[in-house]
Amino acid sequence: MTVLTTPRLLLQPFDDHHLDGLRLLNTDLQVMRYVTGRAETPEETAALIARVKASWMELGHSWWAFIDRATGQLIGSGCIQHIQRDPVNPLEIGWRLLPAVWGKGYASEAALAMAGFAFEVLAAPQLVAVCHQENLDSAKVMQKLGMTYRGIERWYNTDTTVYGMHREEWFSRQ
Ligand SMILES: CC(C)(COP(=O)(O)OP(=O)(O)OC[C@H]1O[C@@H](n2cnc3c(N)ncnc32)[C@H](O)[C@@H]1OP(=O)(O)O)[C@@H](O)C(=O)NCCC(=O)NCCS
Repeated sequence: MTVLTTPRLLLQPFDDHHLDGLRLLNTDLQVMRYVTGRAETPEETAALIARVKASWMELGHSWWAFIDRATGQLIGSGCIQHIQRDPVNPLEIGWRLLPAVWGKGYASEAALAMAGFAFEVLAAPQLVAVCHQENLDSAKVMQKLGMTYRGIERWYNTDTTVYGMHREEWFSRQ
């Protein structure tokens, strides 16, 4: 399990003590609008933490809680995981933030650290990111990370916007 540090954030692999913070995040309908469109139930959040802890142990990657280093508050979460959680699929990067901290660059800051982890620690050959076609805020984070638009593809039972980046592109942008 790998903790990542950025100028303003600590990225901590999900653990039981993140439950309250993740409940707040994953029941916010602004946050969930383009994710599942509904609030996560308490049972689902507990199951999520258990599944993520197991994934860290088995695969060496999964979801992090984003902790504001100045306040200690959980302000978001993000992941490196196989798309649709199927190991035959490439790794995807993802993020979500509490609406109170949107527009401050936290997602992009965390994304840089998570992508670095994927390419430099996991030696991923490529990284993809998918979002709802109307989720322009998320697509913007993908663009700022240096990812390239790949098109519309069907993932998670949805026709999603797909961005991608190969490891050569990551290392040539350093
Ligand atoms: C997607 C999401 C994480 C993007 O959050 P965000 O705050 O817009 O993204 P960033 O952290 O990159 O912040 C970028 C903005 O902060 C501004 N900013 C302010 N201070 C900054 C700083 N120090 N560094 C960088 N950017 C900064 C940028 O100018 C930019 O503003 P703009 O969008 O007006 O151009 C957020 O909208 C979200 O949580 N949505 C709901 C969940 C979701 O849909 N997740 C994705 C599922 S695919």
